[in-house]
Amino acid sequence: MKLVIGAAGAAVAVAVAAWVLWPDGHGGHPPAGRPQSEISVSSTAGMPGKAMYNQKCAVCHGLQAVGSPQGPPLVHRYYEPGHHSDMAFVLAVKRGVRAHHWRFGNMAPVPGLSDTDIKEIIRYVRALQRANGIF
Ligand code: HEC
Repeated sequence: MKLVIGAAGAAVAVAVAAWVLWPDGHGGHPPAGRPQSEISVSSTAGMPGKAMYNQKCAVCHGLQAVGSPQGPPLVHRYYEPGHHSDMAFVLAVKRGVRAHHWRFGNMAPVPGLSDTDIKEIIRYVRALQRANGIF
């Protein structure tokens, strides 16, 4: 039993690592995000947006926003403030996103978050981006 879990865990780890290293299926865009094992979370301790992010966004965008098989990393240069302003984040949460950068499909609107909640989530994601040299 242990062995089975171990093997499955290893397979998942390899898949996640491969995915994080080469997240952009159509090539030509070297990822700025780092593999999960290397991501810095130093400046995010105790941030109120972290718990809400983990509850509402991590299922697709991954813990620490490194991405998952369901959605892209937000710790990525596509999503630096100059490309996707805080307003783009607000609109993504409220209205959803039509797939355009990736091949995960569309993002549905995420219900149950106040404007303040969204602001705190953005603060958390920006802190992760900054800690990892995205901007
Ligand atoms: C069900 C999966 C899912 C969930 C949950 C989810 N997202 Fe997304 N999100 C996606 C996908 C897929 C895309 C990529 C669309 C594309 O191809 O550009 C995306 C794109 C985005 C973008 C980029 C918007 C743009 O204008 O290009 C932002 C910002 C974002 N998500 C923020 C969030 C935040 C914040 C949360 C939590 C409140 C969240 N997402 C929850 C799947 C999800």
